Amino acid sequence: MWIWSGSDLKLRLTLRVAAVSTLCFACISGYFLIDSDRTARARIAAVADVAAKTLELQQSKIQWLNNPRSKFPDLDSVAASVMAPGLCLAFRSRGGEISQRFCGGAQTDQAPPPLAFAALYRHLFDPGREAVHPVVSRDQVIGEAVAWVDPAVPTAEAWHDAGRLMAVFMIALPLLCGLIYAALSRALRPTLLIRDGLERIAAGDLAARLPPFDLAELSAIGDVFNHLAERLATALADRNALTQKLILVQDEERRHLARELHDEFGQSLAAIRALAASARQTAAQECPPLLAECDGIARTATDMMETLRGALFRLRPPDVDELGLAASLEGLIAGWNGRSRGAPRFEITIAGSFERLPSSVGANLYRIVQEALTNAAKHAGATRVTLRLQMREAASGGNVGEIALAIDDDGRPSEPPIKSGMGLLGMRERVAALGGRLSFTAGQPSGSSLRVIVPLAAGLDAAPVECAA
Ligand SMILES: Nc1ncnc2c1ncn2[C@@H]1O[C@H](COP(=O)(O)OP(=O)(O)OP(=O)(O)O)[C@@H](O)[C@H]1O
Ligand SMILES: [Mg+2]
Repeated sequence: MWIWSGSDLKLRLTLRVAAVSTLCFACISGYFLIDSDRTARARIAAVADVAAKTLELQQSKIQWLNNPRSKFPDLDSVAASVMAPGLCLAFRSRGGEISQRFCGGAQTDQAPPPLAFAALYRHLFDPGREAVHPVVSRDQVIGEAVAWVDPAVPTAEAWHDAGRLMAVFMIALPLLCGLIYAALSRALRPTLLIRDGLERIAAGDLAARLPPFDLAELSAIGDVFNHLAERLATALADRNALTQKLILVQDEERRHLARELHDEFGQSLAAIRALAASARQTAAQECPPLLAECDGIARTATDMMETLRGALFRLRPPDVDELGLAASLEGLIAGWNGRSRGAPRFEITIAGSFERLPSSVGANLYRIVQEALTNAAKHAGATRVTLRLQMREAASGGNVGEIALAIDDDGRPSEPPIKSGMGLLGMRERVAALGGRLSFTAGQPSGSSLRVIVPLAAGLDAAPVECAA
């Protein structure tokens, strides 16, 4: 089957109408040719009939007057009344000889038809076929009246008629196609609006709605579109609310866990270390062989406190408000570099001043970076992770401008392929709450990149997600 993908619907329909019109034209032309051929045949048969009757009358007259010298056959009178261009009339005796014959001359003012048309017409209609009518006298056939037409004459006439029809068709077809194309363009104009609406929805503008249309079918599509857009907006709003709640719960849970670890576990470890020191003193005086065990307990407790400090650091970030975003991020990067012992290598570049940043903006950006670095280490197997934080002040100064955050790694695409977990979702929600934009691409061609833009004015004015900083 011929598939014409991507073609214009209006053009396609117009061409179909043109094809159907051409077919109709061919059928109508065929009908006219068949009809005119039938009429011509009936006329020739009538001429042969009239001639036969005239000759029978002449034969009767000769016998009645008993005058064998009278002229027979005498086709003059018949020929005078019926003769037409190209028409031939003759009397053929029983022996097959033509005794008398009249032929009307063919018209020469018409251009001859093309050979192909003449051959086809002759093949289809056989225009030179004879009409024969027997001439009977005293119940005996004495010969036959024969009429026929010079084939060139009906062929030329058919060509002439077809040419006229073709001329009409050649004028009417472009006109018809033009009118149909214009009508279709007008009728399908609302589809542009529908496409615009879909593109706006795809770009995230859920406020896009379609106006009512004149055509009932398109109006129904518009209604369904508006209904879907409304439901999508509600579902997204619900999802955003839920995610923000989850982020709050997660932050609260982390804060609680950090407090518990610090207050319970940390205190216990400190107590173990103090006890180990006291046991060491006692052992030094009373039982020196236990000194090594006491030192071992103190070392283990110190290691556990170190590990606990790292966990607390991750669970409860430094006070971004107090330290400032830049210093907090530098500390975070230093922590990662310390823990990863050179593989992967984390680098940070900070441009601009972040001192006047509202604490919630700083805390949210800190959390976003924290999650992105964890992902790079966890999923990508990266050897190098770079972070760039830039304050882009607007030329006019003031509060207008934006914060641009870019995190790139050189890792491989994750296995299995990307599925949005809580991390990416949380990042998106934090950025959305700050009125910013986030884009994340992984493994194209290698490495992942995260881009976050937070408008400064929105960052200063918005009411961002509360964050456990
Ligand atoms: N830097 C990265 N390189 C390669 N793939 C990544 C990277 N960051 C995220 N991904 C992919 O994106 C997916 C979603 O990440 P996300 O942080 O949302 O979830 P997670 O890390 O799997 O789980 P969670 O963060 O909830 O503990 C990951 O499972 C991983 O496949
Ligand atoms: Mg994650």
